[in-house]
Amino acid sequence: RGGPVIAVDGPAAAGKGTLARKLAEALGLPYLDTGLLYRAVGRLALDEGQDPAQPAQQFAERLTPADMQRTDLRTPEVAQAASKVAAQPAVRAALVETQRRFAAERGAVLDGRDIGTAIFPDADVKLFITASPATRTRRRFLQNGGNPDAPDAQARLREMEEALCARDKADASRDSAPMCIADDAYVIETDTLDAQAVLAEALRFTRERL
Ligand code: C5P
Repeated sequence: RGGPVIAVDGPAAAGKGTLARKLAEALGLPYLDTGLLYRAVGRLALDEGQDPAQPAQQFAERLTPADMQRTDLRTPEVAQAASKVAAQPAVRAALVETQRRFAAERGAVLDGRDIGTAIFPDADVKLFITASPATRTRRRFLQNGGNPDAPDAQARLREMEEALCARDKADASRDSAPMCIADDAYVIETDTLDAQAVLAEALRFTRERL
């Protein structure tokens, strides 16, 4: 490989994306949000009027860079669809090479669920970023422009937390490359850390390894 591979895994809304992007910037490496691959496949299935739990391999095989740049991939509906297509071994198999090739030339930072366990079991650095469901839900709520003082804020937070936990559970219990902590991953719990502190901790660990 032409450079180091850094795997950033963890559950939904743990701050993986923010961290991975900044880490890549600090280290001068390319960055890939692998969740976008599964979101794009889920989106294509929905566009075809197909239940995302049905075989979606064909969509994974014809995925283009433009599909991944769509601006409608960040909705809860697409997140659900992504999790359903991501449970299909044939969909995962169709996306493995794209991810490995991305890092071949210069190395890369990749964030996802199975980067350190399945895509790059030999990654130079493996980070697992997590936080309590309540923390992750609150962050996602604020990120989406939610107002914590609105009368329906508590109800919306509860609803979001349920959806988030259901998706984590599905991702962690599927047979094909389930989300789990690699034996050699460094776990960062971010409940009491802000984004800057998480980056500092991740950079400290990474620089020790490279
Ligand atoms: O990270 P993000 O929330 O965008 O991922 C959407 C879904 O894609 C996840 O819930 C998971 O089911 C799937 N995914 C995966 N493996 C990855 C990245 C995402 O299975 N490496």
